[in-house]
Amino acid sequence: MQYSLVFFLSVSLAFAGDFMTQMEYAKMLYENPRGIGCVHCHGPKGEGKVLARFKEKGKEKEIVAPSLHGLSKERFAKGILASKSVMPTYFLTNDEIESLYYFVTNIQNNDKGK
Ligand code: HEC
Repeated sequence: MQYSLVFFLSVSLAFAGDFMTQMEYAKMLYENPRGIGCVHCHGPKGEGKVLARFKEKGKEKEIVAPSLHGLSKERFAKGILASKSVMPTYFLTNDEIESLYYFVTNIQNNDKGK
């Protein structure tokens, strides 16, 4: 009984004090996810960016890495696991995808994540 209380307390303390640690891990993964970093295409905060502009048959065209803000978790995961064109295919675990999602949903309001 006493042991489980001690265990419970240390676990809750670990989570309470760990906001930056979780964010730092998530940021690290975003920048270096065993493959080319998301940061290069989707920008440092997942805000998205234009990767290339070119002309095709006289028309201006763009290749855009979309913003990752405001996506549902399902859409986010699907986007990573089933990339359609320019984006590379990643082999990430569910936990890693959770962390990346954590990063893009928290970075917007948290300047410490810079
Ligand atoms: C080489 C550039 C590039 C890199 C690196 C990249 N992406 Fe993408 N991403 C794109 C482009 C371009 C699209 C648009 C659709 C497509 O090409 O698949 C996209 C689409 C997405 C989508 C779908 C968005 C939607 O609106 O449905 C998600 C989610 C996503 N990327 C997340 C990530 C994450 C997380 C990483 C890092 C693990 C990453 N991307 C790395 C270029 C990139």
